[in-house]
Amino acid sequence: MKRVITYGTFDVLHYGHINLLKRAKALGDYLIVVLSSDEFNQIKNKKSYYTYEQRKMILEACRYVDLVVPEYTWEQKIDDVKKYQADVFVMGDDWQGKFDFLKDFCEVVYLSRTPDVCSTQTKQYLNDKKLRKVKNI
Ligand code: CTP
Repeated sequence: MKRVITYGTFDVLHYGHINLLKRAKALGDYLIVVLSSDEFNQIKNKKSYYTYEQRKMILEACRYVDLVVPEYTWEQKIDDVKKYQADVFVMGDDWQGKFDFLKDFCEVVYLSRTPDVCSTQTKQYLNDKKLRKVKNI
């Protein structure tokens, strides 16, 4: 069985995420998502709309995802690859080259990002819309 591992916050799950997860799963038989914990998001200066448990529940309902586990630090990747016996490490190409050090342990693949969609933009849009409603404009 070929095992694939990928990382991210996956907040307000969107079609760009699904595109990534679908292509990641197609690289093997079993897909592990290492999901940013709320504590790790703080370290990254990110604030997710959904909590870790909520994001985990949503990802677990996705047909491409087999296992969701938490990410707590930048440094855990080598241990994760070993622990989950990952054959392939996958990230979007916004991270191109950043994780090449994992090539000593598994195959490293960067997949093209889906254009024109991200969680930050969606959250910004919904916030602006709410603000316009409150201000009645
Ligand atoms: N991703 C993608 N295409 C997008 C958005 C994200 O392929 N349009 C990929 C990222 O490259 C990463 C994974 O999805 O491998 C999780 O990304 P994440 O940072 O959680 O998603 P974003 O929507 O980029 O979130 P944010 O706006 O908070 O950065």
